[in-house]
Amino acid sequence: MDKLIINGGLPLKGEIRISGAKNAALPVLVASLLTSEPLRISNVPHLQDITTTMELLGRMGVRLVVDERMTVEADASGVHMLRAPYDLVRTMRASILVLGPLLARFGEAEVSMPGGCAIGSRPVNLHIKGLQAMGAEISIEEGYIKARAARLKGARIFMDMVSVTGTENLMMAASLADGVTIIENAAREPEVMDLANCLIAMGARIQGAGSAEITIEGVERLHGACHEVIPDRIETGTYLVAAAMTGGEVKLRCVRPGLLEAVLDKLRDAGARLETGDDWIRLSMEGRRPSAVSIKTAPYPAFPTDMQAQFVVLNCVARGTGTVVETVFENRFMHVHELQRMGADITMEGNMAVVRGVEGLHGAPVMATDLRASASLVLAGLVAHSETIIDRIYHIDRGYECIEEKLSQLGARIRRIPGSQLGDWTKRQTA
Ligand code: EPU
Repeated sequence: MDKLIINGGLPLKGEIRISGAKNAALPVLVASLLTSEPLRISNVPHLQDITTTMELLGRMGVRLVVDERMTVEADASGVHMLRAPYDLVRTMRASILVLGPLLARFGEAEVSMPGGCAIGSRPVNLHIKGLQAMGAEISIEEGYIKARAARLKGARIFMDMVSVTGTENLMMAASLADGVTIIENAAREPEVMDLANCLIAMGARIQGAGSAEITIEGVERLHGACHEVIPDRIETGTYLVAAAMTGGEVKLRCVRPGLLEAVLDKLRDAGARLETGDDWIRLSMEGRRPSAVSIKTAPYPAFPTDMQAQFVVLNCVARGTGTVVETVFENRFMHVHELQRMGADITMEGNMAVVRGVEGLHGAPVMATDLRASASLVLAGLVAHSETIIDRIYHIDRGYECIEEKLSQLGARIRRIPGSQLGDWTKRQTA
């Protein structure tokens, strides 16, 4: 397994390009299952989760052509397997997204039931309940969700909780259903809106995406289209926090500042100076130490849970005390124990972390536990006084494209030691 080695202490300075959004690209790739014509998707990030999705679609019979700029052409005219097997679903829960499209276009689907994960139990009951409301017969057999429906029927669906992939799954299924579907208490995340825009380009009739009520008038068939994935707002936020914590100055290109207002507000509160254009953001700290900020995660447009870990670590080195309340997932504080090993002063009170800023963190060997927790360890490593060694970085590779190249471009001292060379590296360290 590869490790990341970081020698912290330098302010980040420079300019980088932000990649396409992982959580938008995943459902858009899956949307190719809804039509027999090719879907051309640009600005797809080069990430492990994207590779897993392409493997899943490929096994089902989707023909995929990827060019050197990561534009993907997905042709689902030859789908021959209507099953998402356990070996892929267990590595990526978002595989559940194939359930709605397969059922809507082919009348049946089998998807391995995703288990719990490092950030919470993460059930999929809302996906199942919504499809049942549209007339699907669903059973759970031998760990698989087995669904059938001659043709799905439009329905009024109220989501008990705001679910991003739940809304996406139902929106895709409803696009090919007979009649009108109304999803109430729908997720308003920009990634849901991006998927809706892609579906509309494919001929779907969708209104209200981006609001809490989405209306979908089903059509007989969808057609091919071209779609460009939106920029990754979480990658954007992560690099902004990195610059703010290190007292640096960065310009991020190919971004959409309007997608992360809640995060930008908190960065301003922390003392960052921000300038934005249509597709760029500049953050400058002029060497100042950030001030602690208090945050509470909630569905969009509130503060995103996917930026929680990064703000915990910002508070670790800030002036003052900040509280961080997690309301979306029940167990998303795994990073806290690792940060404490680097000298952070954090106490947990239920779903709230009370973070007292300290003058500095020190490096340590730490372990990545999930994607955003791993990102927070990288950020901690960037400000730590000595060397930080991060193990299990495959979590980072799921969601951050070329993280060490991008951080190096901003002046960070970070390198990857491939698993195959770890023996030699360890010998050199102990010699
Ligand atoms: N929930 C249910 N039942 C369901 C579905 C969700 O109780 O059927 C609960 C969850 O357990 C959770 C809450 O509803 O407590 C919200 O979960 P949601 O369904 O919105 O999460 P998700 O769709 O599985 C997506 C992102 C996550 C991001 C969350 C919240 C993708 C592929 N994943 O997950 O991204 O944290 O929305 O914004 O879009 C990440 O990128 O690191 C990541 C985890």
